[in-house]
Amino acid sequence: MGSFFRIFPEQASTIAARVDGLYMFLLGVAVFFSGLIFLLILYFAIKYRRRPGHTRAQQVGAHNLLEAAWILIPLAITMVVFVWGAKLYAMVMLSPPADALEVYAIGKQWMWKFQHPGGQREIDALHVPVGHPVKMTMTSQDAIHSFYVPAFRIKMDVVPGRYTTIWFEASKPGVYHLFCAEYCGTNHSRMRGQVIALPPTQYQEWLRSNREVESMAAAGAHLFQQMGCAMCHDAASLAPTLVGVFGSSVPLATDDTVLADEAYIRESILNPRAKLVAGYAPIMPTFQGQLSEEDLTQLVAYIKSLAPKPAGGG
Ligand code: CUA
Repeated sequence: MGSFFRIFPEQASTIAARVDGLYMFLLGVAVFFSGLIFLLILYFAIKYRRRPGHTRAQQVGAHNLLEAAWILIPLAITMVVFVWGAKLYAMVMLSPPADALEVYAIGKQWMWKFQHPGGQREIDALHVPVGHPVKMTMTSQDAIHSFYVPAFRIKMDVVPGRYTTIWFEASKPGVYHLFCAEYCGTNHSRMRGQVIALPPTQYQEWLRSNREVESMAAAGAHLFQQMGCAMCHDAASLAPTLVGVFGSSVPLATDDTVLADEAYIRESILNPRAKLVAGYAPIMPTFQGQLSEEDLTQLVAYIKSLAPKPAGGG
């Protein structure tokens, strides 16, 4: 990759070409209409210039067909943009495949902290395998940050107090820029890192050579004991069992149900009364202020590991 000036970053993910396709369409529409308007201004300026015998414009009356055309044509074009963009964003970028690898990210002023399910931790660098989807579950410890990998054409805000997710599949090995794309304080511009996409065998090697003492789920299991969660949750009558809860639909005291995802588990730890499970008394204390975001991701990983494994998952 030469040092020549490049307008577009590399296309290094499976959706990069699709995002660029939409971008090119938008660019094409903008260039076409800008050009058309520019030429028409010139043409009309010359055609209707003031000259002897033509000193005043003639008033033009209503023209229904013309009115309809300039309502319907822009409507059709914007609907194409809307449907195309919404499909790409909602149905592709926000819908990770079921077999995606899960990586947790925490943004803080001013660094990116990552943790792999096996326990491997990284700062400002993220190793991922080529040819396999990776789902990021992200939160912030302070300000709003944004996870942006131009070569993958993905960007997602990383917000304190909640989890956001995005996924990607690297399509070729390489080292790609990671930027924070949301102004987050003095060193925002330095809050950057790299995503290192490795061929699967090298990725496995990297995982092995960086094996931590504990996987995330094991660290979560220790916390679960240490914080006293097990006292109630392992005793059937006091609190609901957490085995198989992840991904299930939980009946609430309000007669509603809620999907037990990462965000629900996090909320239930920090604000247990927000979504009280049907049939249980509101006796769980809040753990707000007692657990770091990292602790929370370990607990989430542990509770996820208690879910019945779907076929081929893991
Ligand atoms: Cu973090 Cu800008």
